[in-house]
Amino acid sequence: MNAPRILVLAGSLRTGSYNRLLAKAAAQQLETLNAQVTRLDLADYPLPIYDGDLEQASGVPTIARELHAVIASHQGVFIASPEYNASVPPLLLNAIAWVSRVNENGGKLTAFGQPVFALGSASPGNFGGYRGLLALRQLLAWTLQSQVLPQVVAVGQAHIAFDEQGQLKDESAKNMLKELTAQLVKIASCVK
Ligand SMILES: Cc1cc2nc3c(=O)[nH]c(=O)nc-3n(C[C@H](O)[C@H](O)[C@H](O)COP(=O)(O)O)c2cc1C
Repeated sequence: MNAPRILVLAGSLRTGSYNRLLAKAAAQQLETLNAQVTRLDLADYPLPIYDGDLEQASGVPTIARELHAVIASHQGVFIASPEYNASVPPLLLNAIAWVSRVNENGGKLTAFGQPVFALGSASPGNFGGYRGLLALRQLLAWTLQSQVLPQVVAVGQAHIAFDEQGQLKDESAKNMLKELTAQLVKIASCVK
């Protein structure tokens, strides 16, 4: 199996973000599976709030085109996203809105083959942000017409879920992450 190119990002900029910790744990796990991992920080892609007037006046920002290109150049993408009000947080929603306005390939992420997405979330609540992932799945599958793996990892009680090294403490959460990342590597290897 070729080492697939996997992009890993978190839908939070917060210092001490649990989802950034989850993204880091996923990246480490993917590396053990010999994936070629790229870490992406959405702080490096500052985008204005989507506004149709802005798009009409100035087009899609270069940063959004760059974000589209970096996503499209990978075979797999792991997103660790917080749940806000049972849905997708504004940072990620806004980034996806702009990326979906890039017209190359009809707006799809098909520059090098369609990357497959794997989703995770972490929340201090008991459900681990699971409901937000349902909304994120719908968004990715419908607007970007992307393949999204059916398995997810949802880390509840996130404020006590990670040790001082940022590793998941709970065996079942660790196993969920292992299975999800293994599946991502397997399916992403089949993407061109
Ligand atoms: C506006 C807002 C809405 C939130 N809604 C939810 C929610 O619906 N479900 C949930 O489990 N946590 C919710 N939370 C709590 C987040 O899960 C928590 O702040 C988490 O730490 C954010 O992720 P991060 O640590 O990666 O920044 C919400 C937080 C904010 C600020």
